[in-house]
Amino acid sequence: MTPDADYKKQAAQQALELVRSDMVLGLGSGSTIAHFIDELGARLRSGQLQRIICVPTSLQTAQRATVAGIALTQLAAHMRLDLVVDGADEIDPQCNLIKGLGRALLREKIVAQHALQFVVVADDSKRVGRLGTRCPLPVEILPFEAAAHVRWLGTLGCRAELWCEADGTPLLTDNGNQLAKCWFADGISDPAALAQQLQARAGILEHGLFLGLATRVITVGADGVRNERCN
Ligand code: 5RP
Repeated sequence: MTPDADYKKQAAQQALELVRSDMVLGLGSGSTIAHFIDELGARLRSGQLQRIICVPTSLQTAQRATVAGIALTQLAAHMRLDLVVDGADEIDPQCNLIKGLGRALLREKIVAQHALQFVVVADDSKRVGRLGTRCPLPVEILPFEAAAHVRWLGTLGCRAELWCEADGTPLLTDNGNQLAKCWFADGISDPAALAQQLQARAGILEHGLFLGLATRVITVGADGVRNERCN
């Protein structure tokens, strides 16, 4: 296992310590969460944890959870989730996040907004001083007139491009929508203002800025574990 993969696994294991029997969980998406799912499945099989049910944030997560023997449910049956655990692409010092490079940001945000606790797990390379400096901001857009949405995104101080598969066709999310990537040369100076602009625009379905949602961030790196509550 590469050091990064090992850090992700350790971060996922830290989050497992917050899980109690009878909880309803939200399961994020991505490689860090894959470790969480596998370990959760192992603890359920061993009887260490019991009667856990989970809302998945992507088809991939649902499939992995099913293979791990984890029972799945829907928000319709559980309006409050005891704990949602998810990864992140960037984490700033205020616990604001960029998410979505695993292509699941819309479902992830829907699930996160039902969380009593929203715990983010990552390797510590995801910590940044300012959002948008390490990776692009993913934005989910309506396929209708997608090129026009991408052009408008490019007026927001970033270089915007449609996210395509290797063969050049637009990548589709689990929701059948398309995604754009927005690259900010010096990072995002005012994430809250940008989020407002994006939310107000027809054709922009959701964006990867997760502001004020995380209640705890757990990262692991060469310096060890950082496990912090967010204010
Ligand atoms: C998926 C996400 C992921 O949580 C994010 O991309 C981090 O992924 P990984 O754990 O593989 O580094 O937002 O949409």
